[in-house]
Amino acid sequence: MSSSTPLLAVDELSVVFDGHGSDEVRAVDGVSFTLEEGRVTGLVGESGCGKSVTSLALMGLLPDRGVRVGGSAVMRLPEDRVDLLTLPQRRMRDLRGSQLAMIFQDPLSSLNPVVPIGRQVTEILRRHRGLRGSVADREAADLLDRVGIPDPKRRLREYPHQLSGGMRQRALIAMAVACRPRVMIADEPTTALDVTIQAQILELLRDLVTEEGTALLMITHDLGVVAGLCDDINVLYAGRAVETAPRTPLFSDPTHPYTVGLLSSIPRLDAPRGEPLTPIRGSVNDNIAWSQGCAFAPRCDHYTMECLQGPPELVAVGTAAGVEGGGSGGASAGASGAGAEHVHRCVNPVRHADVADQPVTESPAVAGGDEEEAQG
Ligand SMILES: Nc1ncnc2c1ncn2[C@@H]1O[C@H](COP(=O)(O)OP(=O)(O)OP(=O)(O)O)[C@@H](O)[C@H]1O
Ligand code: SF4
Ligand SMILES: [Mg+2]
Repeated sequence: MSSSTPLLAVDELSVVFDGHGSDEVRAVDGVSFTLEEGRVTGLVGESGCGKSVTSLALMGLLPDRGVRVGGSAVMRLPEDRVDLLTLPQRRMRDLRGSQLAMIFQDPLSSLNPVVPIGRQVTEILRRHRGLRGSVADREAADLLDRVGIPDPKRRLREYPHQLSGGMRQRALIAMAVACRPRVMIADEPTTALDVTIQAQILELLRDLVTEEGTALLMITHDLGVVAGLCDDINVLYAGRAVETAPRTPLFSDPTHPYTVGLLSSIPRLDAPRGEPLTPIRGSVNDNIAWSQGCAFAPRCDHYTMECLQGPPELVAVGTAAGVEGGGSGGASAGASGAGAEHVHRCVNPVRHADVADQPVTESPAVAGGDEEEAQG
């Protein structure tokens, strides 16, 4: 199997929750992306757009009842390829923690409060790498040291509440990388941390990806984090990817009005003092169903009647977009080693967006945009 094959190819992933008497919730609605060796792929979007549900579906952690999962998520293993969405639970348990790992937002609720850190790390080493006794203890101390926890031997004997928030997140990352996973999913791993610790954790994740060749799916609502860490970015809105691009074109030439709105609503260090931010009007709940047209239409300044003729199809930037089923063929949001193709889902995109001077900052602090130039 070629090493240029993505480590994980997610195709048309959908997750629908039963409404239990009311309308069903289409949390993820045909999302496709790939994760590549040694690259960081971002999933970004406002609260409720389906980021966490996507990660839970990939990890096989959605409830068994009341939820329908569709599409495929094919993972490349050393010997074969498996679809994570149909894999039996027993195989999935073996994969989790060994080939596939997840870092959650809140380390305190992810760590067992009544078990010392060391035992939680060595348990993974025992289960997935067969290490025991002093060998496992040494490896656990090495892992804590690697993620920058000082005095690791002492910390191994301590309980989660005895560590600071940043150290707990580092311990969780140590557990996630304990078995050198090929694919790692991080769901808002730095949201609960202050900005200096946040920057350190992001640097640590970047080093792990570079050194181990891990494919990282970074889930965040923070475009500063995206600018500092991600190679390819998928912007989600109401369960669908609306724009996908490598980092530079996404920040220098965003074309979807929602992406431009996200960029414009973030403070810039070089903005004149007192200049107001430009928020996206309305709220994430002001959607229409994709089946009726573009879900973003109620909040979009570029809206025309064409936007309500059906769900806009995903097309390469620069090509004319119609609505799904309209016959132009559409595009997939895949990537193949050189980065994702720049695609969007909009019949009336922003052109020549005046955001070329946008700083692609390495700090998680700031990424913003100027006022966009609309064109029909
Ligand atoms: N168990 C569930 N039952 C019904 N609906 C759910 C369930 N879990 C999530 N949802 C809905 O799915 C949608 C997507 O939720 P999700 O948690 O993925 O959002 P998110 O993008 O991670 O948001 P945030 O940034 O706030 O974490 C939301 O509308 C949410 O209410
Ligand atoms: S399809 Fe229409 S409503 Fe949707 S983002 Fe594009 S211009 Fe706005
Ligand atoms: Mg979430």
